[in-house]
Amino acid sequence: MSDNHSDPTKAATDPQAGSPSEPAGGPPPDPAESILTVSNLAKTFRIGFFRKKVEAVKGVSFDVRRGEIFGLLGPNGAGKTTSIKCILRLIHADAGEITIFGRPAGDREAVRRLGYMPENPYVYQYLKPLEFLDLCGRLMGMTPKDRARRADLMLERVGLAHAKDRPIGKFSKGMMQRVGLAQALLHDPELLVLDEPMSGLDPVGRKEVRDLLIEQRERGKTLIFTSHILSDVEMLCDRVTILRDGLVTASGTLDALLHRGQRRFEVQLGDLTEETRQALSSYGTLAAHGASWIVSVDGEGGVQPVLRAALDGGARVEAVSPHRETLESYFVRDPQSGAAAPSAPRA
Ligand SMILES: Nc1ncnc2c1ncn2[C@@H]1O[C@H](COP(=O)(O)OP(=O)(O)OP(=O)(O)O)[C@@H](O)[C@H]1O
Ligand SMILES: [Mg+2]
Repeated sequence: MSDNHSDPTKAATDPQAGSPSEPAGGPPPDPAESILTVSNLAKTFRIGFFRKKVEAVKGVSFDVRRGEIFGLLGPNGAGKTTSIKCILRLIHADAGEITIFGRPAGDREAVRRLGYMPENPYVYQYLKPLEFLDLCGRLMGMTPKDRARRADLMLERVGLAHAKDRPIGKFSKGMMQRVGLAQALLHDPELLVLDEPMSGLDPVGRKEVRDLLIEQRERGKTLIFTSHILSDVEMLCDRVTILRDGLVTASGTLDALLHRGQRRFEVQLGDLTEETRQALSSYGTLAAHGASWIVSVDGEGGVQPVLRAALDGGARVEAVSPHRETLESYFVRDPQSGAAAPSAPRA
């Protein structure tokens, strides 16, 4: 259930629909245009009586391009939320440069063109969702008519139409997430910044939110989000930047990061003698798998020599399968979250 997107006439007549990302008769937008650039961002907090330093972000750089879904990943405490808060000027960075739509962070016009869903949305507990969204719309400078139309539409879009009459204080965690998402989408912004939009959602809810984010990208919007749900990241993100301890450890497309271009194959073998195992180790990496062994090789061409050597040695071939690395195995393989992996090329 799309809103003004399904009605092309709205873009010309509705100020909320007529965001600059929608066709306006001008030159087509450059897909590689950076909508957000972050250079050498640094932020140190000081806590406690002795003003002890916590270096949350230590010189982070990345860019987000028009029309993409960009993932900001990393373990707890890596500096994702701090970076986002600096980008939105909710807190002041100590160093670094940030531009949004080519303007400095904090610029009113740039802020008007983005929607933000915080990690822990704070809402007035006694307000009903429509009242809350109306308040948000007022703060965004929306007209009463647009506020009413968009609030209704967004509540329905995030699956909360049935709970319109309940105070938000009585909402479950997943319902709160949905209110936060409706709020971020309310003024139909060009850039969506979502801090853990899927956390607390049930599997169906996650799928609904994934579909919603993809729908936004299809409408030409740009999205940046953080998440620990790596399967969602894999399904959604065009590019990612991984942070750890306040530093960027890897950046690029998922394909480049997970070496998806160079396909790996796994040959599972049984009855391997020590001698055959030694012979096979020159063709690929060997790992025990129960009573069997798995030989991993790069590319389809690497499979034949392994099979030949295995059969010559009297081994039993149990399976040959292509291997596709996942983000989860990437994080597990490299606990430094990519620290040892080369930074993927700018794609
Ligand atoms: N207001 C604050 N005062 C002091 N330290 C803070 C503050 N906000 C964040 N930090 C610290 O900065 C570091 C980075 O925190 P941040 O919230 O950015 O991490 P994160 O990557 O978003 O983690 P998570 O995945 O758990 O949300 C942490 O060590 C955290 O304790
Ligand atoms: Mg966070």
